[in-house]
Amino acid sequence: MAKFLITGGAGFIGSNFCYYMVSKYPNDEFVCIDALTYAGNLKTLDNILNLNNFKFLHMNICDKENIDNLFEKEKFDYVINFAAETHVDRSIINPNIFLESNIIGVNNLLEASKKYKVKRFHQVSTDEVYGDLPLDRKDLLFKETNPLKTSSPYSASKASADLLTLAYHRTYNLDVTISRCSNNYGPYQFPEKLIPLMIDRALHNEYLPVYGSGENVRDWLHVYDHCVAIDLIVRNGRSGEIYNVGGNNEKSNIEIVKIILNELNKPESLIKHVSDRLGHDLRYAIDSTKLQKELGWKPKYTFNKGIKEVIKWNLENKEWLENVKSGEYLKWMEKYKNLKKI
Ligand SMILES: NC(=O)c1ccc[n+]([C@@H]2O[C@H](COP(=O)([O-])OP(=O)(O)OC[C@H]3O[C@@H](n4cnc5c(N)ncnc54)[C@H](O)[C@@H]3O)[C@@H](O)[C@H]2O)c1
Repeated sequence: MAKFLITGGAGFIGSNFCYYMVSKYPNDEFVCIDALTYAGNLKTLDNILNLNNFKFLHMNICDKENIDNLFEKEKFDYVINFAAETHVDRSIINPNIFLESNIIGVNNLLEASKKYKVKRFHQVSTDEVYGDLPLDRKDLLFKETNPLKTSSPYSASKASADLLTLAYHRTYNLDVTISRCSNNYGPYQFPEKLIPLMIDRALHNEYLPVYGSGENVRDWLHVYDHCVAIDLIVRNGRSGEIYNVGGNNEKSNIEIVKIILNELNKPESLIKHVSDRLGHDLRYAIDSTKLQKELGWKPKYTFNKGIKEVIKWNLENKEWLENVKSGEYLKWMEKYKNLKKI
């Protein structure tokens, strides 16, 4: 029996991971902590909150004293850190909170993992730490050995956390692993991110705001396949190693938007091009050969199957969506207020 700490478990990927782990490992114990920022939603965890092997605590990873007490009390075997500020646009407007949660918070977890002799600390990172690739060089992919070359305060804060994690391995011999994943989609994703945002607006017959020409390319992976990868890395990955996780599934933003409109039988006239994001990365593409060869990982979902399922999930979970579209979300969406409904 092993005891896990999952941080940021009320967010999109963390909650999917909690669901995956509690059902796969009923004999292990899981403690989930989350600061419940605008992106965290306890309702997401409704179906597992009462399980005997699952416990939720409202806690901020920046609160060093509470984190220390928690580690002392619970004696975790594994720590998996999902907790982070994650929206690039928000990091451009207010970088500070990204530095606090994504760097100082991670350092608190690393300190406690070292002090209380955790067996393994896993940092959930992102392919954005590699910067971007040119649109016209399809032969180039991010490898684990690529240099860090961040573009936004978000990616810079995630890269800092990766470096700290590796420093704790080298300096203090802490057992660590890092996963760097491409863009995820799936159930429970907060509707400020591209896919749920576009589904939600299309369902309401509202204009779909697309940055610039929409040619920026992302490598899309279903969140389920990301969860499988993290589980494999935590259990069988080599200490001190970084593993890229990607779907080999490159699509431009405009392609994604058109697929969604087509699935929902909505007209392309809903697309509205808006001014581009500052420093907008052109293309992300991941080489996940290391993960596939060393740990036998292979994504289960094709994008075609995954996107249909996610659209269906959005249609069947309108209550969840309306619930998360609370005051904070509405404030954020005010920037699109001049885009009228048709
Ligand atoms: N979404 C993606 O496509 C993607 C891709 C690669 C990597 N990642 C990484 O995966 C992780 C999870 O991403 P997500 O998309 O689920 O994000 P999310 O924004 O949906 O969830 C983040 C969660 O962390 C919590 N949180 C934020 N600051 C915290 C703090 N200081 N203390 C405790 N909890 C805090 C939030 O309340 C929220 O529940 C992040 O580390 C992100 O960098 C995401």
